[in-house]
Amino acid sequence: MGFFGFSLFVLWLLEIVAAQPKTEPLEVDAINKIIDHWNLRSKLNLTVDPCIQNATWAPETANPRIACDCSDTVCHITHLKIYALDISGEIPQELFLLTELMDLGLGINNLTGPVPAELGNLTKLISLSFSSNNFQGTLPPELGNLTSLQQLYIDSSGVSGPILQEFSNLKSLLTLWASDNRFTGKIPEFLGSFTDLKVLRLEGTNLEGPIPSSFGVLTKLEDLRIGDLGATDNSLDFLENLTSLSILDLSFNKLTGQIPASFKNFSSLQYLYLGSNNLNGDLPSDIIGSKLISLDVSFNPLTGNVPLDRKDISINVVGTSINDVNLKNEKASGMLHCLQGSNICRIKDPSSSFAVNSGGTEQVSADGIKFDNDSEMLGASSLYTSTENQWAVSSSGIFISNPNGPRYIAQTDSQITNTLYSELYKTARISPSSLRYYGLGLENGVYQIELHFAEIQMDDSNSWKAGGSKTALIKKFEANVTNTVMDIHLLWAGKGTCCIPLQSTYGPLISAIHVSQVSEYKNLSKSNRKRIGRILGIAIGCAAGLLITCSVLYLWWAKKEAGHMRIHTDSPRKN
Ligand SMILES: *[C@@H]1O[C@H](CO)[C@@H](O)[C@H](O)[C@H]1NC(C)=O
Ligand SMILES: *[C@@H]1O[C@H](CO)[C@@H](O)[C@H](O)[C@H]1NC(C)=O
Ligand SMILES: *[C@@H]1O[C@H](CO)[C@@H](O)[C@H](O)[C@H]1NC(C)=O
Ligand SMILES: *[C@@H]1O[C@H](CO)[C@@H](O)[C@H](O)[C@H]1NC(C)=O
Ligand SMILES: *[C@@H]1O[C@H](CO)[C@@H](O)[C@H](O)[C@H]1NC(C)=O
Ligand SMILES: *[C@@H]1O[C@H](CO)[C@@H](O)[C@H](O)[C@H]1NC(C)=O
Ligand SMILES: *[C@@H]1O[C@H](CO)[C@@H](O)[C@H](O)[C@H]1NC(C)=O
Ligand SMILES: *[C@@H]1O[C@H](CO)[C@@H](O)[C@H](O)[C@H]1NC(C)=O
Ligand SMILES: *[C@@H]1O[C@H](CO)[C@@H](O)[C@H](O)[C@H]1NC(C)=O
Ligand SMILES: *[C@@H]1O[C@H](CO)[C@@H](O)[C@H](O)[C@H]1NC(C)=O
Repeated sequence: MGFFGFSLFVLWLLEIVAAQPKTEPLEVDAINKIIDHWNLRSKLNLTVDPCIQNATWAPETANPRIACDCSDTVCHITHLKIYALDISGEIPQELFLLTELMDLGLGINNLTGPVPAELGNLTKLISLSFSSNNFQGTLPPELGNLTSLQQLYIDSSGVSGPILQEFSNLKSLLTLWASDNRFTGKIPEFLGSFTDLKVLRLEGTNLEGPIPSSFGVLTKLEDLRIGDLGATDNSLDFLENLTSLSILDLSFNKLTGQIPASFKNFSSLQYLYLGSNNLNGDLPSDIIGSKLISLDVSFNPLTGNVPLDRKDISINVVGTSINDVNLKNEKASGMLHCLQGSNICRIKDPSSSFAVNSGGTEQVSADGIKFDNDSEMLGASSLYTSTENQWAVSSSGIFISNPNGPRYIAQTDSQITNTLYSELYKTARISPSSLRYYGLGLENGVYQIELHFAEIQMDDSNSWKAGGSKTALIKKFEANVTNTVMDIHLLWAGKGTCCIPLQSTYGPLISAIHVSQVSEYKNLSKSNRKRIGRILGIAIGCAAGLLITCSVLYLWWAKKEAGHMRIHTDSPRKN
């Protein structure tokens, strides 16, 4: 009886061992040191083997997450995720002992110092993310050893410098997010050899064009976003065969040449953004393929007509000479033509001020200023003109990857501090790309512009420590109106993070605008006028722009730059 019982026990024990191999002791030790290094024990108190079956920290949604491969006689840690848990400092050496890691996610934290070369030892990695951190310096060439990588997320990670030739080995990449880093030099030619690439995001870097012609073979690309390229002119010629594209955003790139007719053949294309470039010629009459949802070609010297038959598509042609017979408000569009400045506009009854409650309904402030109703829901690329044609607002861009769908107006019920007029700040317009307010039919002269901001997307209470949210802030500027129109342009050019606290939290946010004339425009000579019109572009970084383009980011870590804000008025230009 005793013997029988004992052998059963042994059998049972053996079975457990067979079903539940132990984890490599080196890795157990390492993971515990990592947890302590980053003070994560209150979130993940590992008192048992990290690879036990059905562990609460193993599912994909767990955070921190540790998952293992136990198919061998010993378990190995293959997945480690520590996402947005405020870990800071350098990556501890112990992490590099987890040599079986396939998926390492350290996104949205406060990791500092150089990106460690030892990451290049983790050659089994298929997915690596250290997006939204505070690293310094260049990427180590050793990262080029990670030849199994299919996904690399390094956007907003703080890194700078050139994209090294060593990275040309990363030929398995399917997804590369590298926006918002201070990369220098040219866009590397070798990216064109990553022929499996489906997603490439390179917005808001310091990289220079042209977009290499080698990109012409990346026919699997579904999502391509390149923005803010410096220097050389770029053309759209490389796109000819990239017919798998579903999202194409090449705004702000100094693109020249014509828009190719071949876009019609891009049968998956949903979003086509080519705004703020230097594209010319006619808008191809059959540019629109069957899936297109949104087209933005604003601010290009384009001509031609808007395709008449497709009223279901949002189309933004502001700042072009495209004939938009669909525009509801002909008077306003006539006034907007003064922006192009090809002739001198004269207005019969010019106005000298306007005020807008962005994203909200009409409000009269304590000092008697009427802020107009601006609660019209704008789509992915649309223009709305105020009832009295005093101002217009245009918004373009989509909040891609936002699980909650597009939101172009933000609101809060919280009180706003630092103002006597909380209501004004409880609503705001937001835009994933470009948000422009136009003053129309203004008397020429010098104007004061007050831009009202308050961070209402983020709370102070969250772990990313916004600090200063729900606080009113007024920024004042002066600008000269020389041809009846004022253009206040808030834009996101890829600088600043994309995803804090949620995916698609970025772009300009503004609560209200108040513009009033200070003095009449002095009688300047024509050449003088031209000069003034040209120098009126103001581009300011985050330190001054604050909530404009980087609402979230500035408060979190002031180090990063925002996009730009520009206020300009256009001067008459000779034909
Ligand atoms: C972790 O668990 C052990 C054993 O259950 C316990 O003694 C210890 O206090 C826990 N530590 C933390 C930080 O919760
Ligand atoms: C783990 O979960 C599976 C499926 O729910 C179950 O069959 C198995 O018995 C569980 N194992 C342990 C050790 O709890
Ligand atoms: C980020 O880490 C640095 C250096 O470790 C530290 O000085 C800074 O205060 C941290 N920032 C936040 C917001 O935790
Ligand atoms: C890991 O990488 C570092 C730096 O690249 C290197 O010096 C070291 O030898 C590597 N260690 C192992 C175990 O491969
Ligand atoms: C990793 O990369 C570095 C620098 O590019 C190189 O010197 C080294 O030989 C590589 N290591 C392995 C194991 O391939
Ligand atoms: C597109 O494909 C055709 C046919 O293979 C080729 O002749 C052409 O050069 C390609 N265009 C680009 C820009 O690569
Ligand atoms: C569209 O594709 C068809 C068939 O491949 C081709 O004949 C045609 O020239 C293409 N049109 C454009 C504008 O590229
Ligand atoms: C404010 O504007 C919205 C959208 O244009 C409109 O639906 C609403 O009726 C307006 N409200 C008032 C009070 O005029
Ligand atoms: C506007 O024009 C005046 C001259 O009339 C000039 O002194 C002033 O600097 C200009 N303001 C801006 C913001 O360019
Ligand atoms: C503006 O200046 C020009 C010459 O510089 C002069 O002929 C004209 O009368 C002036 N206009 C006004 C309104 O002062």
